[in-house]
Amino acid sequence: MSGKERHSIFVVDDDKSMREFLEIMLTKEGYKVTLAKSGEEAFRILDKETFDLIITDIRMKDIDGIGVLKKAKAKAPDTIVVLISAFATAQTAVEAMKEGAYDYLPKPFKVNDLKGIVRDALESRRISGGEGEEEPSKERYHFDCLVGDSPQMRKVYDLIKRVSRTKSNILVSGESGTGKELVARAIHKLSDRNDRPFVVINCAGIPESLIESELFGYKKGAFTGATTNKEGLFGVADGGTVFLDEVGELSPTIQVKLLRVIQGRTFTEVGGTEEKSVDVRLISATNKDLEKEVIEKTFREDLYFRINVINIAIPPLRERVGDLPLLAQHFLEKYSRELEKDIKKVSAYAMDLLGQYYFPGNVRELENIIERSVALEASNIVLPESLTLSNFRGKGMKQMRRQHDMGPNGVKLDEVMAEIEKNYIIYALEMSHGSKQKAAELLDISMRSMRYRLDKLGLHSKK
Ligand SMILES: Nc1ncnc2c1ncn2[C@@H]1O[C@H](COP(=O)(O)OP(=O)(O)OP(=O)(O)O)[C@@H](O)[C@H]1O
Ligand SMILES: [Mg+2]
Repeated sequence: MSGKERHSIFVVDDDKSMREFLEIMLTKEGYKVTLAKSGEEAFRILDKETFDLIITDIRMKDIDGIGVLKKAKAKAPDTIVVLISAFATAQTAVEAMKEGAYDYLPKPFKVNDLKGIVRDALESRRISGGEGEEEPSKERYHFDCLVGDSPQMRKVYDLIKRVSRTKSNILVSGESGTGKELVARAIHKLSDRNDRPFVVINCAGIPESLIESELFGYKKGAFTGATTNKEGLFGVADGGTVFLDEVGELSPTIQVKLLRVIQGRTFTEVGGTEEKSVDVRLISATNKDLEKEVIEKTFREDLYFRINVINIAIPPLRERVGDLPLLAQHFLEKYSRELEKDIKKVSAYAMDLLGQYYFPGNVRELENIIERSVALEASNIVLPESLTLSNFRGKGMKQMRRQHDMGPNGVKLDEVMAEIEKNYIIYALEMSHGSKQKAAELLDISMRSMRYRLDKLGLHSKK
């Protein structure tokens, strides 16, 4: 026996026969089973107890399965939740996965399928250290190369685990420097394609005139200079994963060709005649709002749906400041090692400053900041002075000091004030990536007032 009897399973279903069936089946398998006949009852039990695994129906009269899932995860994030439903649509399944469900099973299901899922789920939990026997914290801080322990990142890790078992095309979205490529690599590494290539295609980096031959390859003589046959990146990636970075930059012509590859799983080399079949999993990444591009018709809607079967959205660093200490320490160790310095930690005050910073460049920016401070720091601890933050508070402070530095000839108050105003507006616009609306919110002024000030100060933003 593998100690299975220690595992506790909570079954939530408003259908009595289903409850009884699951109870008998799971008890026979050696699990400790608890039952609830409604979402409400489940909530009451979850207040008092935690379980290794929860099997819940999605559709229930009062609180539905997603509610039970959220409650359980909020209380004990390691709880494995499996949803079952007679009505599960792809949409609810996707939502459930996003909320951290381990899997979902449509009713009626095969007993062996459920048994298998439960066994795998509990096993994966054991491997991932969820039970906290050996190195309890390591897996929580790290997931593959990703560092971070915030609930937002745990959701991302959960999603990576789940999607890596599927073949679905994934769209990883997030601001610049949030770790989109790391996520893509982690998915590949966890998938059963990990013995095949992971090929990165930077859609913004290849000139328009070359992209087709880069992607699909060419035949000798296809154009001047094509002196030999050349295999394209899709050919190279066969059986593996293609990472389409900055997918929003693809031209309309290439968008059509890509759509053809996804739909038909075939492509034609430049100058070639036969259709070649290819088996790749596509992971795309973008820091653009592709949905908006679809509405504005700069990105094809059909392609958008094909590449975005499942979306993994990585939140910006400023929305998960809980990850800052771990990430800062991680980069500190990395660069101390690389630069052969003996810097052990970031001072509490420096950490505090980092916590207030906006990080427009996200984790990449943090990494650069730490690298620079390790290089600059003379003591064995990172002090605030060695942090180079383009912090708007800092700028504002400097402005204030200058204002107070009034010489014997006085100052032109209106000019000084206008300059301060201008600096704050520019900063707010940068922070909101050019959105006047968001900038106005940051400055706590109305849109009308924002427009007026932009005119007055001669500032014209992009959006
Ligand atoms: N969670 C994380 N843990 C550790 N390192 C991270 C994490 N997220 C990002 N990084 C590091 O930050 C840098 C940027 O990551 P990555 O290239 O994956 O970002 P990106 O989202 O693809 O950015 P861009 O949109 O600019 O291409 C890399 O050096 C990466 O190692
Ligand atoms: Mg990238």
